[in-house]
Amino acid sequence: MDYRRIEELARKFERNFGTREGLRCSRAPGRVNLIGEHTDYNGGFVMPMAVDREVRVFFRPAPDGPVRLWAENMGEWDEFDLDDIQPNPQQAWSNYARGVAHVLGKAGVEVSPVEGIIYGDVPIGAGLSSSAALEVAVAKALCTAAGSEPEPRRLALLCQRAENEFVGVNCGIMDQFVSVHARAQHALLLDCRSLEHEQLPLDTSAVRVIVCNTMVHHELGSSAYNERRAACEEAARLLDREVGGIEQLRDVTQQMLREHGRALAEVTRRRARHVVTENARTLQAAEALKRADYERFGRLMDGSHESLRDDYEVSCGELDLMVEMARRQPGVLGARMVGAGFGGCTVNLVRAEDAEAFMPAVADAYRQQTDIEPDVYECVAVEGARVERC
Ligand code: GLA
Repeated sequence: MDYRRIEELARKFERNFGTREGLRCSRAPGRVNLIGEHTDYNGGFVMPMAVDREVRVFFRPAPDGPVRLWAENMGEWDEFDLDDIQPNPQQAWSNYARGVAHVLGKAGVEVSPVEGIIYGDVPIGAGLSSSAALEVAVAKALCTAAGSEPEPRRLALLCQRAENEFVGVNCGIMDQFVSVHARAQHALLLDCRSLEHEQLPLDTSAVRVIVCNTMVHHELGSSAYNERRAACEEAARLLDREVGGIEQLRDVTQQMLREHGRALAEVTRRRARHVVTENARTLQAAEALKRADYERFGRLMDGSHESLRDDYEVSCGELDLMVEMARRQPGVLGARMVGAGFGGCTVNLVRAEDAEAFMPAVADAYRQQTDIEPDVYECVAVEGARVERC
């Protein structure tokens, strides 16, 4: 985040709260998922990296007060007491903060009130996980104010729970986990069942990660997400009846699906096939990354897009177009939609020497076809969440 912006926000903090003394900054990054989409809630594998777009909470402990937060992006205040946290139906954003405070408190993690300003430059609703960044940044502020420091994995799980139970979005663990655990210049291979993870280096002298925001967001997103989850659970249940030992689609192999897929309705079978093949692609991608075989990695990303488009059906015209435009540019190794789908961003793996030319070229091509000005930028893999003095 631009240091002038940071200084401006620190000054605003002083105007709002009368002092800068004790001012701290809690930072949590958004993420881009390189591969492993719609696998986390099936106990599968994902490979995100944290990006240099983040949510910051400029805060100071306010031991006697309620929690008081100004959301700079929304131009809104919210205020709530830690011992009586109710959902706020008027301000969707504030439920992420309230939810985190509620869930942490209920789990016995010490939290204490803060006053602060929240500001984020993770695009909202674009598939780069602004909500997880907000949850994690607020959680770390509330814990720091109380002098507590929950173990990172617990923090990630509690933030996910806040989104599931308080906000009402049934997301998996990927976004919160990477926002907490990411390492600079690395992608994170995560087993979403065991939460075992491995940091895999990304060599930016060879390849760059470029995100293209289609700037469209189709509303059916959240209901479709829950429907896809339900279809996956149904597929796992039916396959378990056939072969036994299946808890989640994570336990299903491609061969099993070929042999027993008839037990599933055609659509459910395709949903399951996406998850099963995506898990395999993600593990292959991790192997490719270890060998610095970026061509192979890119082909697996392409395969992921095809599978999300045709089998899982969570892409849309604009995402498909952005992917197609990207693939026409020199130096592109792989391109695919990212996140839940139905709009938002694509992620592209581009040879380092072609990255500069790629960005305006793909933006022009997309604009010509749609009349929409896309947002296209390179993302750098950054460190996970932390609290700093300001
Ligand atoms: C959203 C959810 C994640 C994950 C992705 C799809 O970003 O928050 O948990 O399920 O969709 O891979």
